Amino acid sequence: MARETWATRLGFILAAVGSAVGLGNIWRFPWQTAENGGSAFLVVYLGIVLLVGVPGLLGEFVIGRRANKSPVGALRELSGSKRWGFVGAFSVITGLSLLSFYSVVGGWILRYLLESGAAVLGGNPAYFTNPGQYFGGVSAGTDAALFHLLFLGLTGLIVLAGIRKGIELGTKVMMPAVLVLLLALAGWAATQPNAAAGYAFFLRFDPSVITENFFAILGPAAGQALFTLSLGAGTMVTYSSYLGEDRSLPLDGSAIAVLNTSVGVITGLVVFPLLFSQGIDPTATGTGPGALFVGLAGAFSQLPAGTLIATTFFAVVTLAALSSSISMLEIPVAFLVDEYGVSRRAAVLGMAGIVAVTGTVCAFNPGIFSFVAGTLVNILLTTGLVAFLLFVGWVMGRDAIEEFSSGAGSLGRRLGTPWLFAVGVVLPLFLVFTLLTHFGVDTNIGFWPTVGLTVVASVAAFLGLRQPNSVV
Ligand code: TRP
Repeated sequence: MARETWATRLGFILAAVGSAVGLGNIWRFPWQTAENGGSAFLVVYLGIVLLVGVPGLLGEFVIGRRANKSPVGALRELSGSKRWGFVGAFSVITGLSLLSFYSVVGGWILRYLLESGAAVLGGNPAYFTNPGQYFGGVSAGTDAALFHLLFLGLTGLIVLAGIRKGIELGTKVMMPAVLVLLLALAGWAATQPNAAAGYAFFLRFDPSVITENFFAILGPAAGQALFTLSLGAGTMVTYSSYLGEDRSLPLDGSAIAVLNTSVGVITGLVVFPLLFSQGIDPTATGTGPGALFVGLAGAFSQLPAGTLIATTFFAVVTLAALSSSISMLEIPVAFLVDEYGVSRRAAVLGMAGIVAVTGTVCAFNPGIFSFVAGTLVNILLTTGLVAFLLFVGWVMGRDAIEEFSSGAGSLGRRLGTPWLFAVGVVLPLFLVFTLLTHFGVDTNIGFWPTVGLTVVASVAAFLGLRQPNSVV
């Protein structure tokens, strides 16, 4: 059977945006911004999205579209070596790990949605009475496990329907709905008393984070950029492997990044005015899951038409989470289908079956949950992206530039070589640097030594890149 492709260009973009837009934008981004210096953090984050996120995204795209295979087959085929296939196999593990915790959080959201939706018909959602206690009760244990299975089931159903009829159709419906509902919520939030204080908190300009704590926010900003753009897991390799014809990858990649960041910013413009209008101190609920489920739930309980607003909000979050979780499940599913010729149905059943178990473990054990959601995923994503980028820069070389430029017009052709240098050299160095920070290694050796080392390493790498298949 011929391998499926996206039906339309918009379909591919929306699927990729659907993967990118998720809990990372709605739950994490507004809080990271507010906590790390407001609009000053936003500037650093935007810089990283532009200089690391977009080139990295294009790195994954180039691999996928060149090989028309999911990561394992793609790396093996393009390199002609089995060993790279093993590197690709990591993405299967990363995809399963991501989905294990993401599906549990998806289950919480589904539960809040159902609870709010039922209350629209009459009565109040149970979490209105005591948001903190309610969240504590449903976020771990049997309840959490059951709703995790429900969320995973929905994810499986979409992936089961395939690329065009499942993922493409699903995201074509979900993403516009997310945008429209979110904009409506932002408009409504703007009319609330004291909304201005919310904006001021979200986007206050604290330039000292750039001048004094630059190294400290580099890590969080980079981590946020990778996670939110779905990089390092092979999702974007897999999605671009279903691209049929030539189209401008640089253009598509930029559109995806812009849409993704916009959703994060708009969410902030919903969340903070709502909290401030009800006099809820956002710093009190912290950045954890509590931010969304306890702080906002408290605000909803006091707002006029709060139940309706809550239902709309949780519908947005559910759709955003689903359009991301399908992209996680598609990685291991595509692996089984491409490499072993397994039917899509068997692949979905098998892989969702594994996550049913691992997610249940996460639902019952908060310690394992936070390890998977934090440390494990961070390390897997960063190393995964470094591996993909080194592959693009050092193994694909000239082929990568060709793939980058094809369909990209004259500007695309001119950007190809600098892009390959960034992807093969600068980005991996930067990512390893942030990874070390993550391991608690104090990487702050000072500004000039860092610049010096980067220059030396870059020159060495530049000379190394002058290899047979390379360009420079
Ligand atoms: N980007 C999604 C979010 O922000 C999460 C996500 C989906 C993801 N697929 C991924 C993260 C692959 C890393 C890798 O919620």
